[in-house]
Amino acid sequence: MTLLTHPAEVEAMLADLALAARRSPDAYLASARTTLLNILARPDLLDRTRLVAPPEGLGRNLLFGTRALSVWAMVWSPGAVTPVHDHHCSCCFGLLSGSLRETWYRPISDTHAVATLDVVRSPGYVACMMPSGPNLHRIANDGPEAAISIHVYGYDHRAQASSVHRTYEVAAG
Ligand SMILES: [Fe+2]
Repeated sequence: MTLLTHPAEVEAMLADLALAARRSPDAYLASARTTLLNILARPDLLDRTRLVAPPEGLGRNLLFGTRALSVWAMVWSPGAVTPVHDHHCSCCFGLLSGSLRETWYRPISDTHAVATLDVVRSPGYVACMMPSGPNLHRIANDGPEAAISIHVYGYDHRAQASSVHRTYEVAAG
């Protein structure tokens, strides 16, 4: 929680998000999107020097959380990649720096999926999705620089380990 450097503004964002989450799914997603855009537009808000940034893989940094949602800064080292996965909760993310390749998949069973779309995301990109899916994707940093993304998830970080519902093996298209 101390990685964000303007507590009053952060508290206001969190309060708005929590209120919107109680109003409706659409209001929540709109608020999550606004929160991400605000964080991406304000580089001073996040103390990047204190982020966990491993030499390999993904560094997960909790920025704030409630019973309804959690906000994370993810630091992707070059070569970091998630499994193909879907989500048990709403999932919004915005790219702060670097580039990330997002590949979307169509499930063909409970265990396998085929790729349908492959896009490189640039800083400023923001997307939101609900768990009403199927919303299967994989995110990879296949560029030469570390990338930082901000995620707003609709889960309580104290109750669940991550937003991932299920992971999939890639099947040949
Ligand atoms: Fe995801």
